[in-house]
Amino acid sequence: MDVISVIRTKRDRGELSPEQIDWVIDAYTRGEVADEQMSALAMAILLNGMNRTEIARWTAAMIASGERMSFDTLTRPTADKHSTGGVGDKITLPLAPLVAACGAAVPQLSGRGLGHTGGTLDKLESIPGWRALLSNEEMLHVLDTTGAVICAAGDGLAPADKKLYALRDVTGTVEAIPLIASSIMSKKIAEGTGSLVLDVKVGTGAFMKNIEDARELASTMVALGTDSGVKTVALLTDMSTPLGLTAGNALEVRESIEVLAGGGPADVVELTLALAREMLAAAGIEGADPAKALADGSAMDVWRRMISAQGGDPDADLPIAREQHVVTAPASGVLTRLDAYDIGVAAWRLGAGRARKEDPVQAGAGVELHAKPGDPVTAGQPLLTLHTDTPEKFAYALQSLGSSYDIAPAGTEFTAPPIVRG
Ligand code: URA
Repeated sequence: MDVISVIRTKRDRGELSPEQIDWVIDAYTRGEVADEQMSALAMAILLNGMNRTEIARWTAAMIASGERMSFDTLTRPTADKHSTGGVGDKITLPLAPLVAACGAAVPQLSGRGLGHTGGTLDKLESIPGWRALLSNEEMLHVLDTTGAVICAAGDGLAPADKKLYALRDVTGTVEAIPLIASSIMSKKIAEGTGSLVLDVKVGTGAFMKNIEDARELASTMVALGTDSGVKTVALLTDMSTPLGLTAGNALEVRESIEVLAGGGPADVVELTLALAREMLAAAGIEGADPAKALADGSAMDVWRRMISAQGGDPDADLPIAREQHVVTAPASGVLTRLDAYDIGVAAWRLGAGRARKEDPVQAGAGVELHAKPGDPVTAGQPLLTLHTDTPEKFAYALQSLGSSYDIAPAGTEFTAPPIVRG
């Protein structure tokens, strides 16, 4: 087999054979196919697509590139959630302990932020002492003893995807439905969860900007999971506005703790409960009431145990950025738009995110929102507070906020889109 003929097949809109797919994934993982050759193939796939048979084989080949984990020793059914990524998307933080408090085992292998979307591990690392890197044995131990674990995926899990995702990230080939679906599902199937709920984001702050693409991504992933024996369901959820009132690492941990304490912003609570109900149903757990587990403190108890089991201090003060800058409303009226992408870029530029994989992030940096679409605002009131340790970044962050919101005259009828869109 030679790589040029594989690239030419897809460049010329042909169907890749199972043998071509198995070979190219294996040869790339071993370093026999070069990065420039794989990026040419990824671009051909982005432009010309793959059919469902090719996507299933591509996913299987990425799973076969590494180890498969098993949770067979656990007594509870396993339930996992994956979000395709957004701005202010801190849902994993309250959700994992909440679903564990309702009786499931929740293994959350999570990622770091890249570009304008935040990463769950970066958020949790703002808790003093908390460790993202666990051995497989440690991960199972935390899961078994607390009911939930949120940690980095080990190097052995779908190594082909690790290499390919890093390459796609720097070659403009992330936004391809076959590549996103196979990337996410190879890791989830290899992880060994029994059930999976996919939170497919749609809107300016998401990979999928329109509902048709989001639906196609969701149905591709559900088919991959179901065909591999994982009970898989998907929700399409709004990402035109940031979730909650914060985008940034420690800022989002603080907001997640408010939700676990029975408060927090209404949209975060609503989505957390909707996903919890889907996860419990997918795991076959009946009769548990996640709203009660938030109200009675049992989800908070699991959170505290889970954070401690990974070296974190659940009572420690969270970092606060050294400098703040307030953006005020230029007019009175009704806020009708607050753009998720622009807010995500501002948080990233303030230091909450990274431009390259190896860059550090600032724990305290980010954007705090003082109003959401549908809220009345008065000229001069705070609209956003920007947080950073490096005030020279304010000007750069403000550039992305120039047209990030609309204020309509007072009395304008406006209904924000529902959080769960399908
Ligand atoms: N998340 C992943 O894990 N892979 C992608 O391709 C996109 C988002």
